[in-house]
Amino acid sequence: MPSPKITRYVCSECGYTTTTKTGKCPSCSSWGTLIEQEAPPPVQQSADTPAVKVINALDVKAPPRIATGIGELDRVLGGGLVPGGVVLIGGQPGIGKSTLLLQAAGSVAKTYGLPVLYISGEESDAQVALRASRINVADGKLYLYSGANLDDALRNVDGGKFSFIVLDSVQAMTTGGDSGWPGTVTQVRAVAQRVVDTARQHMIPAVVIGHITKDGKIAGPMMLEHMVDTVLSFTGEGYSSYRMLRAVKNRYGSTDELGVFEMTESGLSPVADKSGLYWNRDDGAVAGVAMTIALEGSTPLAAEIQTLAARTIFQYPRRTSRGIELNRFQLLTAVIERRCGIATNNHDLYINVAGGLTLQDPSADLPSCAAIASALRNVPLAAGTCWLGEVGLAGEIRPVTRIDLRLKEAARLGFHTAVVSSREKVKFDGIKIVRVTHIDGALRGMVSST
Ligand code: TYD
Ligand code: MG
Repeated sequence: MPSPKITRYVCSECGYTTTTKTGKCPSCSSWGTLIEQEAPPPVQQSADTPAVKVINALDVKAPPRIATGIGELDRVLGGGLVPGGVVLIGGQPGIGKSTLLLQAAGSVAKTYGLPVLYISGEESDAQVALRASRINVADGKLYLYSGANLDDALRNVDGGKFSFIVLDSVQAMTTGGDSGWPGTVTQVRAVAQRVVDTARQHMIPAVVIGHITKDGKIAGPMMLEHMVDTVLSFTGEGYSSYRMLRAVKNRYGSTDELGVFEMTESGLSPVADKSGLYWNRDDGAVAGVAMTIALEGSTPLAAEIQTLAARTIFQYPRRTSRGIELNRFQLLTAVIERRCGIATNNHDLYINVAGGLTLQDPSADLPSCAAIASALRNVPLAAGTCWLGEVGLAGEIRPVTRIDLRLKEAARLGFHTAVVSSREKVKFDGIKIVRVTHIDGALRGMVSST
């Protein structure tokens, strides 16, 4: 007897499953997101294919890469685009997503001499062509489709013609006839699925541009991020012309690389010297300022930690922080009070990382302590010195990750001394290394209590 057909409705936003169709998802309250799905047929295991395999017996190779030639983008991707892999890139309107991908498309076309397809659902032929010539990426192998019909756009790809596809944007396209407006949950999902299928089928890389919502998430079903292999986030701060590219998810590489670009007259240009972003190189002797070399992925960044101590007029001293977590700042203040005997409770303390950088790296503990002590004593720290260490509750100084990389960057930037943990095994001749065991000793040597 055939089993009865069961229809279920799955919310494309949160995955909630029900057998009754409703307009609003009872779980996440999204409207119009319940999509009819037939229950999958029961899984039948054939007797001759083993279900599990020994991992050693699998023949695996690192995926070949197609470098876009834009170094900052390739590094964030983990070495370049992967054939058959789909990348989703999200960012605020006007941040430069279209510019970046047009540059990448032009560069792949030029470098490999293979046809690349740029699908623009948002801009006309003339707008894209004008931009391409302005940023100098127009190439005989760069093809353009402008319009909202994805099936029409991909017709040529199905003939196996293209080597790389860019879709700008997933919210502007429709697929599968007239079954909905572009940008609806159903259409966004169908469009993304169509691109993923095309990329896998022809083993070509694809990049899909996505809009983001007010709270910074990629607009459309959450499932979108699960469907693709890599999710990149393209951001900028305030009125700055710098743009940061980070991977949020990456099946083919790490997620902690940082790519930095500057938006110029002729498109996005890579910023090689990232330490200049947050540090003005003016290491003047001011009390309460300590330098460190933080790491963003494998990118070392010079960071300036500033602390101000002001005599408090309140019953409880204030603690304010920007760029360093407040709890961490309070903890470090307590460590200084208890382990170094420096009174902190009659001062309001403010800590700030210059340039709007946020430091999560524990290596910022030692420079923060040095800055706090320097501010409280009103004595500047030695110039040309950087501080690299984690501070424990007992006041012990612990090693940090990739000290070699940080010391090299410090030396390159002209620091002559680095204060590090005595447990650090590194050997490096380019800079004088001062090894410290405990916060008390570390600060006693550097901040004289005159
Ligand atoms: P765009 O790539 O269209 O952003 P998105 O696709 O993320 O919405 O970039 C838009 C902004 O970038 C626009 O305001 C103008 C600026 N821009 C430049 O400054 N220089 C350039 O060479 C280009 C192409 C754009
Ligand atoms: Mg755009």
